[in-house]
Amino acid sequence: MATLRSLLAEGEIQLRQAGIDSSQSDAEWLMAELCSRRRAELALHWEEPLASDQTEHWKRLLSLRCDRIPLQRILGTAHFCGLPLAVDGPVLIPRPETEQLVELIVKRFRDRPPRSILDLGTGSGACILVLGKAFPTATLTASDISPEALALARRNGNRCQMGKRIHFICCNWFSTLRGRWDLIIANPPYLTDDEWLSAEPEVRDHEPKGALLGGGRDGADALRTILRGAPKHLTDGGLLALEMGMAQGPTLLAIGRQMGFACEVCQDLSGRERFFLAQRAANSGSVACGRRSVRSPAARSRRRERNRRS
Ligand SMILES: C[S@@+](CC[C@H](N)C(=O)[O-])C[C@H]1O[C@@H](n2cnc3c(N)ncnc32)[C@H](O)[C@@H]1O
Repeated sequence: MATLRSLLAEGEIQLRQAGIDSSQSDAEWLMAELCSRRRAELALHWEEPLASDQTEHWKRLLSLRCDRIPLQRILGTAHFCGLPLAVDGPVLIPRPETEQLVELIVKRFRDRPPRSILDLGTGSGACILVLGKAFPTATLTASDISPEALALARRNGNRCQMGKRIHFICCNWFSTLRGRWDLIIANPPYLTDDEWLSAEPEVRDHEPKGALLGGGRDGADALRTILRGAPKHLTDGGLLALEMGMAQGPTLLAIGRQMGFACEVCQDLSGRERFFLAQRAANSGSVACGRRSVRSPAARSRRRERNRRS
């Protein structure tokens, strides 16, 4: 009878032959799913025999992965900064780079927590959920153009006991959003057509295209739209944090500086330029008030003065 050890070894070979670099760990994750055990526990059960129905299920799991369906899609769960998130709908599986962006932001705001956070293009809800946990007093808003993504984000929110804290909005970037936020995070689509065509099959064939292709020859249309729309939606001193493609920093820096933002490009852990931060000047005239914004007393008196003169 096949044992856990023998099936695992065969499975690893099959996955490797299908071109999967992470064949060993993927085989272990699938076996853990099959046996309803934690991956770390497998070694305690090497010689355990598996029943024939389990062996059949094992073959099905392997064949899905050999077809290059992403592991998280098969398991139905992705882990993001330690949070287990359902990814069984048409949403992007959250990526390690995005975890790095969220961690960078959490560090930045450690001494001055944001009062309000907006996650544009929330997908599975990964970013807003981790930021919501890190900043328990912040008001939270998450938007996406995809109703399916929002439904999944809401489900993940409920799973993390945060569903009621988050205001979910279906819209095209800022189009129907009203208000200002201390922190706006977005990981919008930013791939060019060529990058998408040459992506791994897991991404090209099994991730929603609308979550990947950014538009424009350089893939940066969505990034530009968000950056240009940000001044109306950031509080004084508020921060816009974007994930971007490696070559898109110079374009965003040029636009951001022209708009009067203090801008910065940051690297991921592999030293690639992947994050763009734009901070609104601290004295431009608005303060956060949950999802609404109100003008500061100084800005109100400047405005009254302008009105009196005109
Ligand atoms: C790259 S995915 C990011 C998902 C999630 N924030 C993450 O980091 O895992 C981009 C998300 O933007 C959404 N999106 C695409 N175009 C949009 C638009 N015009 N307005 C709002 N959201 C949009 C997609 O539906 C998708 O969920």
